[in-house]
Amino acid sequence: MGSTRRKFLSAAGAASIGAALGVPADAALDAEHAPAEVPFHGTHQAGIATPTQKYMQFLALDLVNDSVDDLAAMLRRLTTAAALLARGKPVGSMRTGDAPPVDTGESAGLGAARTTITFGFGPGVFADNRFGLERHRPAPLVDLPHFDGDAIEPSISGGDLAVQVCADDPQVAFHAAHDLIRQATPMAVPRWLLAGFGRTSNSRSQTTPRNLLGFKDGTANIKVEDQGAMNQFVWARPPESPSWMHGGSYLVARRIKLLLGPWDDSGLNLQEQTIGRDKLSGAPLGSKHEHDPIKFDARSHGALVIPEGAHIRVTSPNLNDGAQLLRRGYSYVDGVDGRAPASGLLFLCYQRDPRKQFIPIQRRVSTDDSLNAFVQPIASAIYACPPGARPGGFVGEALLTAS
Ligand code: HEM
Repeated sequence: MGSTRRKFLSAAGAASIGAALGVPADAALDAEHAPAEVPFHGTHQAGIATPTQKYMQFLALDLVNDSVDDLAAMLRRLTTAAALLARGKPVGSMRTGDAPPVDTGESAGLGAARTTITFGFGPGVFADNRFGLERHRPAPLVDLPHFDGDAIEPSISGGDLAVQVCADDPQVAFHAAHDLIRQATPMAVPRWLLAGFGRTSNSRSQTTPRNLLGFKDGTANIKVEDQGAMNQFVWARPPESPSWMHGGSYLVARRIKLLLGPWDDSGLNLQEQTIGRDKLSGAPLGSKHEHDPIKFDARSHGALVIPEGAHIRVTSPNLNDGAQLLRRGYSYVDGVDGRAPASGLLFLCYQRDPRKQFIPIQRRVSTDDSLNAFVQPIASAIYACPPGARPGGFVGEALLTAS
C-alpha cells in the first residue's frame, strides 16, 4: 500500500511539473507508469483470448428506452471510453471547476493494469417491438433453460448489456465499471455488479491458481494460445452465427454459491473424490502431476479411481461429445453464511454455441455431479459478445448496420 501511495503522490508531483511545462495534467499522470496495455481494438474483443487478469468487475445493465439511434450513440460512447480505459487514460476531464469531473478520478496514476472491457448483448436486445433487431438474433443466443438445483434470483441475473471488466488492479477495474455506468446513462441503468478475484487460469503463461474450495482451477481449460481450440470452440462463425457475430463469442455467466460449511467439514478424501483431483498437487486421482493425462478407466480394488460423479469426469469432453469451454471465472465473497463466509464462483465461459457446449454440459452437471452437494447456482445469464471494434468504429456496429 505504501508503495502505491508513493506512486500516486509522485504521479501527483509529476502532474504539477507537467502543468508547469504546459503538458496536459492527465498525460503527465499517465507518464508516471509504464502501463501494461492490452490493445482494445482488433478482430476479437479483448478479454476473451486475454490471459485472465487478477481482478474482475462484472456489470450488467438494462436499456431503458427503445430507440435504436440512442442505443448506437451509447455504444459509441462506451467504446470510446473503453478504448481510453484500456490505455490507462481518464474517460474525460478531471479538472472541471464547478462542473462534476467527467472522469471520477479514482484510478488516476494507477496505469492501465492490463484492463480489458468486453461487451455482450443479452436476449432482451432482440426482443419483439423493441429496437427492431429481432431478426438479427443469433440462433446460439437461446434463453438458458432451468437446470436441476437452480435457485435463480432474477435481480442478479440476465441484463441487456454485459460489461466484463478485468484488470490486474482492483481499483482500476472498479473505476472502469463505475465510469462506464456513467457513460451509459441515461440510456441504461445498472442491474447487477459483482467484484471478483482469484481467476480461473486460461494461458500457458500462468500457473494454476486455487479457487475457494482450495483446488487448482483451470488445469484442463482451453489455453488461449491454442488457436485451433479457440477457432473450434470459442469464436462464433457460420453456419450457426450471423455475419455480424463472426469473430465474437457467446458468454454464459453463472453465479454459483459455495456451501463452505459442509465442504469444510468434509474429509479430504471426499473432497478429492468430488473433484477427481488431488487437492494439493492438482493431479488427477491415480496420477502424480497436475498436467498428467486423466485415467478415467483406472480402478483400485474394483472401484473407479475417479468416481462416476467426480466433477472432472462429468465435465470432461469425453462424456460431452468432445465439447469444450473457455472458462474465465472469478471467485467472490459476499458477507456471511451461517458460520462460513458467503462466497462463490462467478463461472464465466465463452463458446461458439451454448446449445452444443454449456447447456448439454450443465444438464449433465446438474444431475450427475457430486459437486452439487456443495454448490448452488443462484444467478444465470447469457450474452452475445460481438467481434472487436475497428479504430473509429464501435462495438456492435455490424449489428446496428446489418440490413
Ligand atoms: C462452483 C462451481 C465450480 C467449481 C468450484 C469448479 C471447480 C473445478 C475444478 C477444481 C476443476 C479441475 C481443474 C481444472 O481442470 O480446471 C474443474 C474442471 C472443470 N470444470 Fe468446473 N467448477 C465449477 C463449476 C463448473 C461448471 C458449472 C461447469 C460447466 C457447466 C464446469 C466445467 C468444468 C470443465 C469443463 C472442467 C475441465 C474438465 C476436464 O476436461 O478435465 N465447472 N472445475
